[in-house]
Amino acid sequence: MRAIVLGPPGSGKGTQARLLAGHLGIVHVSVGAVLRAEIAAGSELGTRIAATVASGDLVPLADVLAVLRAPLADAARRGGWVLDGAPRTVEQAVALGRMFGELDAPVDVVVALIVGDAEVTVRLRDRAQGEHRVDDTADVIAHRLEVWARLGPPLLAWYEGAGLLVSVDGTGSVALVAARITTAVEGFRRDDTAAHAPRRSASIAFGDSGTTLPNTPRTNGSTGCG
Ligand code: AP5
Repeated sequence: MRAIVLGPPGSGKGTQARLLAGHLGIVHVSVGAVLRAEIAAGSELGTRIAATVASGDLVPLADVLAVLRAPLADAARRGGWVLDGAPRTVEQAVALGRMFGELDAPVDVVVALIVGDAEVTVRLRDRAQGEHRVDDTADVIAHRLEVWARLGPPLLAWYEGAGLLVSVDGTGSVALVAARITTAVEGFRRDDTAAHAPRRSASIAFGDSGTTLPNTPRTNGSTGCG
């Protein structure tokens, strides 16, 4: 099973991706955590992107792809992954889709967490009391929300067009949201062959040039997920 969890900052992507991966017995891959580890390690890439992450802007696509390839390849060999933090844009979705194809690891489902700005702002300000993430200041939280408001809806629409999107209410307790996600993902998998498979082999137009959907048509079933 390969799943992506999307949503605005503070919607619970990291929290829920970790729980879903544990439930399915697969690997949680967090782009934000990988980028912060690069920054903390003082690597060349980490030094180059530190100011961008602190500002709440998106780091360049090439850097996202560079940090994701090895963990996704490793996770794919181990039965699958739940990815949170990427993609953030349709451009990233296209590029990641290409990478998934190269790894022979197409994405099975994309979960969109739906939480309003007021609630995520409270969550992130609460987190700032304990974790001290550099991007959890009031100004940067507001900017991160603007970035999501601009880039998130077209991304979700793109995955919906690909027949991969399930939207889940991300409000309520962590356990309640986790239960909703499990139900949604399992329902999606049950519906998979009947309702979604035909759409995955189609092509949709995006931008000036036609682009293929995020998954190449499957030649075999999805990986068992425990
Ligand atoms: P990233 O680390 O991905 O940050 P984010 O998207 O802003 O999301 P957060 O980690 O803040 O929140 P979350 O949705 O994961 O929620 P969480 O579970 O933590 O990215 C950071 C930066 O890296 C980006 O701004 C960018 O610069 C760069 N970057 C990352 N990916 C990139 C990409 N693909 N391309 C380019 N740049 C990229 O929960 C938040 C808080 O709420 C926690 O305290 C949690 O305990 C709490 N909480 C969770 N669920 C609930 C609940 N149900 N009720 C109450 N509290 C809850």
